[in-house]
Amino acid sequence: MFSPFIINDKNLFLDRYPINQVNRSLQAWDAADEYLVNYVSDNHLITNNSSVLIFNDNFGAISLNFTNNTVQTITDSYISQLALVHNGEQNHLPLTKINQCSSLDNLPNAADVILYKIPKSKNLMVEQLGKIRKILTPDTHFIASDKAKSIQTSTLKLFEKHLGITKTSLAVKKARLVFCQFDPALQEPPQQTTKSWQLDNSQIIIKNYANVFAREKLDIGARLFIQNLPSLTNDKKVIDLGCGNGVVGLSLLKDNPKTHLTFTDESYMAVASAKENVQVNFPESTDNCEFIVNDCLTDIEPQSVDLILCNPPFHQQNATTDHIAWQMFKDSYRALKKGGELRIVGNRQLGYHIKLQRIFGNEKLIASNDKFVILSAIKK
Ligand SMILES: C[S@@+](CC[C@H](N)C(=O)[O-])C[C@H]1O[C@@H](n2cnc3c(N)ncnc32)[C@H](O)[C@@H]1O
Repeated sequence: MFSPFIINDKNLFLDRYPINQVNRSLQAWDAADEYLVNYVSDNHLITNNSSVLIFNDNFGAISLNFTNNTVQTITDSYISQLALVHNGEQNHLPLTKINQCSSLDNLPNAADVILYKIPKSKNLMVEQLGKIRKILTPDTHFIASDKAKSIQTSTLKLFEKHLGITKTSLAVKKARLVFCQFDPALQEPPQQTTKSWQLDNSQIIIKNYANVFAREKLDIGARLFIQNLPSLTNDKKVIDLGCGNGVVGLSLLKDNPKTHLTFTDESYMAVASAKENVQVNFPESTDNCEFIVNDCLTDIEPQSVDLILCNPPFHQQNATTDHIAWQMFKDSYRALKKGGELRIVGNRQLGYHIKLQRIFGNEKLIASNDKFVILSAIKK
């Protein structure tokens, strides 16, 4: 068991989420969360009546310190929303005043205090700052935080460009705060946070919302994957697990427009991108597709699926971890019918064949190049 996150006279026991992670040495908070919460409390920035907006809180370490206030959280991650509920419940904190919103929702018209954990994606940051700017007033306290090494000059320039006068704190435990003040003279910069590209040798246009994986161009692992998809009959039930912009599922739909295909991801923007991409590129297939924000395959009926296609993640926020891949493979085993197939792409050195062998008792190499392997495992 870890030492608790002791802050604000509270002992918070916080888990990373999903909780059954193999690498238990990873913490559910960092020095930037701690600095932010300590600063707000030491300077009495939040009173009982303050309305608080909290962005990109990974596992609840920030939000769970303000459960007596009206708090709106904004994140693109469904996992982060689940983590907040899990950690709130395990610390017996009331969650009734916390309104969890996704990155696609509108912000409230005003907020007294905005606490902003700087996200990994600068495109997401630009989109969020654009929305924040519309509700920022001279009285709003805006404080951002991150590891000091991640707050580069270019990051500060983004704050200046999108919000106004920007200052930084001293570094504490290698974390830093950023303070922004409303600047009435600031011109509103143009907002272009979606990005589109054309899929190789096809007419398919892939549109990507700000926080979507492979937003700028096709992932090189995905490129090998879509060249090695299985052939299929139309009555099959297929899942594109961790769909991102939906490029894998869309490639399958190209030859199998009537397949029943579920696109699922934990990122709200990913699922929204996949949905829009199906609607635009294969409007006739929209009715046989589903789009679900989910943690891996939670709630998918056991033994109900014929084929699962997956390009698993090997990062969670800034941490390199294989626990999500593990969970995706285990969930796939449960969701597949007997005889059903999980087909994946992975970096050679990740050794996914060992995991598949352990879970499925079999695995087969379908294709490879110098960097990636395509593997298939059958549920016997
Ligand atoms: C390597 S990307 C693959 C995206 C897309 N399929 C492609 O090939 O370009 C992995 C995806 O898994 C998603 N993901 C991460 N954790 C997840 C989870 N617990 N449940 C569902 N999806 C998750 C990420 O948001 C990301 O879109």
